[in-house]
Amino acid sequence: MKTLAPERGGRARMHEPDFVAIRKDFPIFQRKVHGKPLIYLDSTATTQKPVQVIDALDHYYKTFNANIHRGVYAIAEEATARYEEVRGKVAKLLNARSPHEIVFTRGTTESINLVSNAWGRKNVGPGDVILLTEMEHHSNLVPWQILAAEKGAQLRFIPIDGQGRLDLSGLDALLDGPVKVVSLTHLSNVLGTINPVADIARRAHARGAIVVVDAAQSLPHIGVDVRALDCDFLAFSAHKMLGPTGTGALYGKRALLDAMPPFLGGGEMIREVKLEGSTWNETPWKFEAGTMNIADTIAFGTAIDYVETIGFEAITKHSRELVELTFRLLGEIPGVTIYGPPVEERGGIVAFSLDDIHAHDIATVLDHDGVAVRAGHHCAMPLHRKLGVVATTRASFYVYNLPSDIAALAEGVGKAKQLFHR
Ligand SMILES: Cc1ncc(COP(=O)(O)O)c(C=O)c1O
Repeated sequence: MKTLAPERGGRARMHEPDFVAIRKDFPIFQRKVHGKPLIYLDSTATTQKPVQVIDALDHYYKTFNANIHRGVYAIAEEATARYEEVRGKVAKLLNARSPHEIVFTRGTTESINLVSNAWGRKNVGPGDVILLTEMEHHSNLVPWQILAAEKGAQLRFIPIDGQGRLDLSGLDALLDGPVKVVSLTHLSNVLGTINPVADIARRAHARGAIVVVDAAQSLPHIGVDVRALDCDFLAFSAHKMLGPTGTGALYGKRALLDAMPPFLGGGEMIREVKLEGSTWNETPWKFEAGTMNIADTIAFGTAIDYVETIGFEAITKHSRELVELTFRLLGEIPGVTIYGPPVEERGGIVAFSLDDIHAHDIATVLDHDGVAVRAGHHCAMPLHRKLGVVATTRASFYVYNLPSDIAALAEGVGKAKQLFHR
């Protein structure tokens, strides 16, 4: 049964989404794992895909597969139009001023590397400051470390407090001096914390710094409005919001993108090429060198339709209900520590530990019952060091999860406790 029909044009918002019916749109839940139904609690790593998105990929390859921006024949023009239509959808989704502000990339990681390379190499020099936070995913840490090492710039970090929120009491001091860029996550992939990006952006801009937002988790879970945040760049991945892997985007204010040199050189990003040198295409195509991920980007457009039909308000409410239940059920198991702020301050992500049982052991016990959770440092090693643990177990939710999934999680965690503490 297809509960939503987000084919082209079908965009009516659901008043009260039926999450039981929504789950039926995801074919993967028909399979079993170790003889049990799959319970997927790792949407922070990547979400599952509804049949509409899978069909969109299939439809592209079966009916109008062609390279874009090159051919004058019908299917090439169709592919180009559909690809560019998604740019418009992304601009609308983010409340950007224009589709020209949207650059397609492989995802969050590539988007941040694009900024650190193309903007950073031009604008950051010796002694300049790059301000990050202690809760960053490696994707928003390592590219800046590389830039800082190359340019002789310094890295500073906004610390976190005991509840996994940013401690902004020292922000003025951290913003003092030649701070060129503040780059931070909007929603922590470990703590679930939603950061006050608009407030930080206002304070950073007052000191002349630009603001880069890692929206890998916030866009799928709470939605973003780049004008309300007033960020200069914003990065995200399609695969974390029901779209295919290998595509995502960078939002950038037009004036900044226009002033930046290209990131990658090659076909389609040029205006004119001579043997000795070249001139660049206009923004955003200047940043889209070579054959882009056409099929996945087009199917991402279908994922956007799907998510918008449910609506971010309903998604946030649904995730909160699941987080609340997780807090309650895991809270009943002695020895469980949940990291991060209270339910009402977070997205659908819960990282926890259980006594001194290793996260991998907990995840393995859960996997036996078909429950997929993530165990490890979740690409946030410095944050785990700060929390004083090497690894945590993380359950994360999306539109196909139901309260019964949380009950299975809690049952599995209880089993792990019995097993390792006999
Ligand atoms: C907060 C955050 N930033 C960045 C990334 C990297 O995303 P991708 O691997 O899609 O580039 C992730 C992935 O988990 C994330 O959670």
